[in-house]
Amino acid sequence: MIKIESLDHNGRGIARLNNKIVFVNNALPNEIVEIKTISEKKNYIEAEVVRYIEKSKDRIDSICPYYDKCGGCNLLHMDYKDQLKFKQNKIENIINKYLGKKVKINDIVGSDNILNYRNKVTFHVNKKIGYFKDKTNDIVEIENCPLASTQINNAIPYLNKLDLNNINEIICRVGSNELMIIIKSNKDINIEPIKGIANSIYINDKLVYGNKFIYNNIGKYKYIISPNSFFQINNDVCKKLYDKIDIETKESKDVLDLYCGTGSIGLYINNNKNIIGIEINEDAINNANTNKVINNIENINFICGDSGKKSTNLKFLPDSIIVDPPRNGLDNTTIRNILNMSPKKIIYVSCDPMTLVRDLKTLNNNYDIISVTPFDMFPQTKHVETVTILERK
Ligand SMILES: C[S@@+](CC[C@H](N)C(=O)[O-])C[C@H]1O[C@@H](n2cnc3c(N)ncnc32)[C@H](O)[C@@H]1O
Repeated sequence: MIKIESLDHNGRGIARLNNKIVFVNNALPNEIVEIKTISEKKNYIEAEVVRYIEKSKDRIDSICPYYDKCGGCNLLHMDYKDQLKFKQNKIENIINKYLGKKVKINDIVGSDNILNYRNKVTFHVNKKIGYFKDKTNDIVEIENCPLASTQINNAIPYLNKLDLNNINEIICRVGSNELMIIIKSNKDINIEPIKGIANSIYINDKLVYGNKFIYNNIGKYKYIISPNSFFQINNDVCKKLYDKIDIETKESKDVLDLYCGTGSIGLYINNNKNIIGIEINEDAINNANTNKVINNIENINFICGDSGKKSTNLKFLPDSIIVDPPRNGLDNTTIRNILNMSPKKIIYVSCDPMTLVRDLKTLNNNYDIISVTPFDMFPQTKHVETVTILERK
């Protein structure tokens, strides 16, 4: 029996037992719980709750029947305002602790939709459709996911009519009101059961039914979605995040948008600017060029390639640079090139505060960190997006 003292950055309860730290899934501060060890290491134990002896008054009942087994959500037992508080504290702790100085952390921007917000879901398939159990490849069969968009949930009964013995993965993506289904399989799959619900069906990389793309709208802009290119997962928070970047670049004339995906940020902030976007994924760059045409925007160009390589000796001197890298953050070449180009402003969009703070430590020699704003792009999970504004010293 142990008492939970606080939360770690993954939203797990922290307690102490025989001089070891214990991380407990689905446990809140002040709760007294009986635990079962999942794994024991030299300095810490990972555990799950067997019985709640005293529950926190802040605990709410999870609305998901698979919550205990599925590895997708971490915070369904926490009220939304407490989730926001947790994420605000997480960002403040990580930034201030690892940066070694206090930085202005703005209030977290919440999500209007805290359920059914995900516009993309990857289902794993092994005779049944589901998600992986936390830290395993075992499939937890699901009939409904509270985070997936309603359109995706409505598709599940139809997906279940496919030949699941021969499918490894099914990815569903929704645009503003269209559904794309991507089936990963080594066999030919009869897609009759899902033709009535999908606007676009791919088997692996091959279009087998309907339209090549689906469309998503963010603000007044229209973006295409294709099977392999990135798009922000939560449309509502995506708009809030892009609005913030738009405000921050109002005065800019020449903007470099690194890791630009389908060009969505550059296109959103295009007014009175010259913009260059760099992105490694060829499909995303093709989408970006289509997005440029369908939104009637001319003052933006896209380069396909690695952000570090393609920003070396770039004949363009940006006054602002936007970076939105994957979880592993910026590589040394990209950081070196940013410092050489020496823009007045850097806008760093990050989905991993640990790699963000690592990169800020380097950039901090030449740049003041003006503010960090957390955005709750992923309600019910431990993840949090941030936008950091840096200005040249
Ligand atoms: C978090 S997404 C951001 C996309 C875009 N800014 C948006 O808001 O939709 C990161 C993007 O970086 C791209 N990427 C990953 N590694 C890269 C690299 N070394 N150079 C350029 N782009 C890269 C990925 O393909 C992905 O599109």
